[in-house]
Amino acid sequence: MDKLLIQGGVPLAGEIRVSGAKNAALPLMCAALLTEDELTLSNVPHLRDVSTMVRLLSQMGVEVSLDDRLGLSLRAARLSNPTAPYELVKTMRASILVLGPLVARCGEARVSLPGGCAIGTRPVDLHIKGLEALGAEISVEQGYISAKAKRLKGARLVMDLVTVTGTENLMMAACLAEGTTVIENAAREPEVADLAQCLTAMGARIRGAGSDVVTVDGVARLRGASHRIMADRIETGTFLAAAAATGGSVTLHGANPGTLEAVLEKLRESGAEVRAGDGTIALAMRDRPRGVNVRTAPYPAFPTDMQAQLMALDAIADGTGVITETIFENRFMHALEMQRLGADIEISGNTAVVHGVRQLQGANVMATDLRASASLVIAGLVAEGETRIDRIYHLDRGYECIEEKLAQLGARIRRVT
Ligand code: EPU
Repeated sequence: MDKLLIQGGVPLAGEIRVSGAKNAALPLMCAALLTEDELTLSNVPHLRDVSTMVRLLSQMGVEVSLDDRLGLSLRAARLSNPTAPYELVKTMRASILVLGPLVARCGEARVSLPGGCAIGTRPVDLHIKGLEALGAEISVEQGYISAKAKRLKGARLVMDLVTVTGTENLMMAACLAEGTTVIENAAREPEVADLAQCLTAMGARIRGAGSDVVTVDGVARLRGASHRIMADRIETGTFLAAAAATGGSVTLHGANPGTLEAVLEKLRESGAEVRAGDGTIALAMRDRPRGVNVRTAPYPAFPTDMQAQLMALDAIADGTGVITETIFENRFMHALEMQRLGADIEISGNTAVVHGVRQLQGANVMATDLRASASLVIAGLVAEGETRIDRIYHLDRGYECIEEKLAQLGARIRRVT
């Protein structure tokens, strides 16, 4: 199994380009299920989760092709098998995003229950409840969600809590429903708005995406479209945190600063000089970072997907940072691994108190999930000596060419098998 070897201590410097967003790409690929015409996506990140989604859609009968500029064309002219099997769903929870489009387009769907994962239990009850409110008949048997509906009917959906993929699933289903659907307490994440923009180009009638009330007037059919996937705000934030932690100076191109205000604010508070322009973010950290407090919450607040990376920054900061995780109940696994590198972190429930230390020391650590592995890469980049990160396949789920990009910024990093 692949491992990463990092020789820490080099301040990152230089320029790189940000990739397309994983968490926008996955729902956008599922939107292809809503039409028999071709959907073409550009700025597609080359990631393991994207390949998993290609496999999932292909086995349903979607024709998928890659063009020479890494654009992805998806055509769901005939859907032979509206099923998402356990083997694929267990490796990627985002597979649940096929449920809404399939039941809306085919009148039936069978999707394996995603089950637990490293960061918490993460149920899908709100996806199911929402589809039922739209008129789907749903049963859960032998680990599979079976949904049936002649034609979904618009309804008012008040979400019990803010769910990103839940909002996306229901918004996609509502596009082909009869009548109007209003989703209240909707997720405001930029990926929801990006999906809505693509659906609108496909002929959907959506208002309010990106706010907490999304209104969808259902239409009888959608057509093909071309869409450019938004920049990955979490990849952007990860590289900025890495530059800040190493005392570096970097410029990121192809970024969208407007989608990560809360992260930029925390980086500034830690002492970084951050300049955001049109599609570009430059960061320079001249002194030792200061410890910052972080509380994760739905967008536009600080994203849970950046919590681990900020913990790595706090780990070597001057002072103490208190990190509170409010989205997932088990998202501090990286803290235990960072302790192997010499970090001083106390965990109590959903709060981590991080007492910054002057220097981390290289050690062997294990990645437990995608963002945890990113935080360990950051910690490895600042640690003295060599850090070896095992189970690096987690990283490949969500970071395109991460070693190449970090090496371009001067990091001493290599992959070994
Ligand atoms: N929840 C329920 N019931 C539901 C749905 C969600 O209780 O039916 C709970 C979850 O257990 C969690 C909270 O609601 O406690 C919020 O979860 P949400 O549904 O928003 O998460 P998600 O849609 O499964 C997406 C991202 C995650 C990101 C979260 C939060 C995608 C494909 N995944 O997950 O990304 O952490 O939103 O922003 O968009 C990652 O990229 O590393 C990642 C985990």
